Amino acid sequence: MTAPSFVIGIAGGTGAGKTAVAREVGETVGEAVSILPLDNYYQDHSHLPAEERDQVNYDHPSAFEWELLAEQIKTLLDGRPIEMPQYDFTVHNRTDERVRIEPTEILIVEGILSLFEERLRDLYDLCIYVQTDADVRILRRIRRDVIERDRTLESVMNQYLTTVKPMHERYVEPTREHADVIIPEGLNYSAVDLITKTIHTEMREQEPPISDAS
Ligand code: CTP
Repeated sequence: MTAPSFVIGIAGGTGAGKTAVAREVGETVGEAVSILPLDNYYQDHSHLPAEERDQVNYDHPSAFEWELLAEQIKTLLDGRPIEMPQYDFTVHNRTDERVRIEPTEILIVEGILSLFEERLRDLYDLCIYVQTDADVRILRRIRRDVIERDRTLESVMNQYLTTVKPMHERYVEPTREHADVIIPEGLNYSAVDLITKTIHTEMREQEPPISDAS
């Protein structure tokens, strides 16, 4: 039975490069890695009309369904698959789709508040905070939200000033104190190299000893 032997939490502000770091680690290590994006665990807001879903504070800890995330991580740790929810940013809601994730040796949880909840931190073997300057993050966010998330420049600016920035200062940044490793400027290849080496060492340690044939 495969069950994750090493769980990594990757946090950091919006646009910091968390997804890029997680993907690069995943591509370098290969199929032994599964990634759970915290975005997929935004609360289901199907009961709200679209105009109200638009107004939700998506940077406050209450925006996430922590119970479901903790339960699904534990299921994987028990060696059983999960049906991971999917999120559509263009309509601010969870989709009907679920993606089956099989337990793998390495599990990465990435998202703005991945290091916020103590019960999740207790499940991580390594806590990482991606530290990228705010001006770089907002520039990335404007480009991404306008191109990929169907937002106007004005709505991105309003949301940034009313919720994203204050919530970052109040809830996201303080979680840096829980990090074992702080990665400067997002996709930092030296840092990714160190993480993949740590993962390979962990995977070797988990291999059963070669039995003595003599
Ligand atoms: N968000 C949003 N609308 C929603 C749900 C979330 O605008 N309906 C925003 C939140 O405001 C939050 C951000 O999505 O700030 C979280 O995603 P982010 O961290 O920016 O994306 P990642 O790809 O996970 O991170 P990175 O850019 O670091 O790779």
